[in-house]
Amino acid sequence: MNTAAPKDQPQSLTGRIDSLLRAAIATVLEDPSADVDPLIRASSNPDHGDFQANVAMSLAKKLGQKPRDLAEAIVAATELGELAEPMEVAGPGFINITLKPSAIATQLEAMSNENLGVISDDDAHPIVIDLCSVNVAKTLHVGHLRSTIIGDALARVLERLGRTVLRENHLGDWGLPIALVLDRLRKDSVDLDQLQLEDLDHAYRIAQQAIKADPRGLDVARQRALSHRVAELEAQQRGADEALDSAKQVLIGLQQGDPELVSQWEKLIDCTMRSVYEMLDSLGSKLGPEHNRGESFYRDLLASTVETFESAGVAKANQGALVVAFEDRERPLLIRKSDGGFLYATTDLAAIDHRVHVLGADRLLYVVDARQRDHFRDVFDAARLIGWDKTADGHKVEFSHVAFGSVLGKDKKPLKTRSGDNISLSSLLNEAMSRGQAEVHRRAADPKSPTHGLEESLLDATGAAIGIGAVKYADLSNDLLRDYVFDMDRMISFEGNTGPYLQYAHARVCSIFARSDGSPFEDQPLMLDEPEERALGLMLLAYGPVITDVAASLEPHRLCQYLYRLSESYNSFYQQCPVLKTEDPAVRKSRLRLCDLVRRVLADGLDLLGIEAPQRM
Ligand code: ARG
Repeated sequence: MNTAAPKDQPQSLTGRIDSLLRAAIATVLEDPSADVDPLIRASSNPDHGDFQANVAMSLAKKLGQKPRDLAEAIVAATELGELAEPMEVAGPGFINITLKPSAIATQLEAMSNENLGVISDDDAHPIVIDLCSVNVAKTLHVGHLRSTIIGDALARVLERLGRTVLRENHLGDWGLPIALVLDRLRKDSVDLDQLQLEDLDHAYRIAQQAIKADPRGLDVARQRALSHRVAELEAQQRGADEALDSAKQVLIGLQQGDPELVSQWEKLIDCTMRSVYEMLDSLGSKLGPEHNRGESFYRDLLASTVETFESAGVAKANQGALVVAFEDRERPLLIRKSDGGFLYATTDLAAIDHRVHVLGADRLLYVVDARQRDHFRDVFDAARLIGWDKTADGHKVEFSHVAFGSVLGKDKKPLKTRSGDNISLSSLLNEAMSRGQAEVHRRAADPKSPTHGLEESLLDATGAAIGIGAVKYADLSNDLLRDYVFDMDRMISFEGNTGPYLQYAHARVCSIFARSDGSPFEDQPLMLDEPEERALGLMLLAYGPVITDVAASLEPHRLCQYLYRLSESYNSFYQQCPVLKTEDPAVRKSRLRLCDLVRRVLADGLDLLGIEAPQRM
């Protein structure tokens, strides 16, 4: 684990042990410049200590030594002082490390401030997160919801570490498909001031239908001299050509800034964005109009982008088109069509240029459906070929496609409504909220419930937070690439690895403070004598490193998993160690301090996932 902290920040406990072991290994190797990862892992069995360092096995092999001998030598060279008990070598050469309770307590003291042990990253370059990125005039689908939820969580985690995050909503708001829709709506004299998403969707489908032709079928019909069929297919071809020509005229008009067309085009965008904002509002995502920078933003930069590639010799002519070829694969990346038109990839290259050279970002994350994997591989490689993987100040730029799988219905097919359309996102989120509200009202009816007698509006807000929390957690708690089944019953349950379970765990910790007499406990030194107290303390200390890990791996499920394990550790603690009922005031206060850290870490972690943590449930 890489837990090194920048200078003048308190290191995590594992980070400190990591550094001490590294130094010891360098001593053993008699090479001061050696920097060997001691491979520290949490022990799965408490009998083997809290952690184990596994480096001896692999290192001994390289050196041609016995692993146990090497482990003994490392142990002899390590001075852990107040941090841990003397280390033990076990089995083939594991180094077992048992922390001293005082070291755990001291470290917990150090994390009791606002940082909660999260070590900040002082790199000043912004990080761009491309998220949401819906297409104008097309129905929003569940993939855009996932992109928004995952992108928002990653943005929050990176911001928590102190990084500047630039959220970029790369709207599909330009190009022939949109011109086709606009042309259709104009021909049908649709009142664009009254436009609804359904009208747009309808026009999109009709427009796509209208440009369909069957040139091969036409050839065959001609060869077989099927005059009837030939006439039919010729008419279809003429219609398609006309529709395309007419849409191209609209696009040219838009390109030239024709005021009427531009104002109509804006109405299409407004109509789409109204439902996007409705979705964002329900989600409580930190994403707004200020983050919109759609494909249209780059329209005047495409020609010069292509020109840059061409003059650098990175792009070459190929049958009238312009392509970037790669050494390790056959299919090149098309960046200008033979008719002079630009493509989705061209826009993405222009966007990289902007993000790296204008925004100065050193990390670009694209939270997009896994089906676009090849697209991003090509685009990133093309950007590297032209040298756009360095910022102006010479910093290396990292490109990542944060790919995610599909959301499936119970039939294991991509989630659809009964009519076969892509499910409407607002109906899905509304259902989640009303299910959450029904559950909260049901519970509040019980006179023993902490929510009994609360104001309706508060119950409704809590219910909505539970419904939305359930949807978000389901999206974040699995390996992102895995397709998952959208099962509202399961995800809204208060039991199992769900959002509501974690929210409920947090509310239960809060309830201890509601029941306590309110006397101060912060001044009490922590006492970790019971095994459950010690285990909970260690779990709390793992929070900071987990956040660092999520930022590096871009895998939010690691944070979900951590919060779930923390809740379980808290449950064991709570069962074994009475808090308010404990007579000894010192023990009671110490336990209240642990509870306080648990509620703060849970609230902070849920917030990073974009999930609210109500006080009472
Ligand atoms: N609008 C695209 C779609 O819905 C996603 C855009 C992703 N971002 C990007 N820079 N290509 O498929």
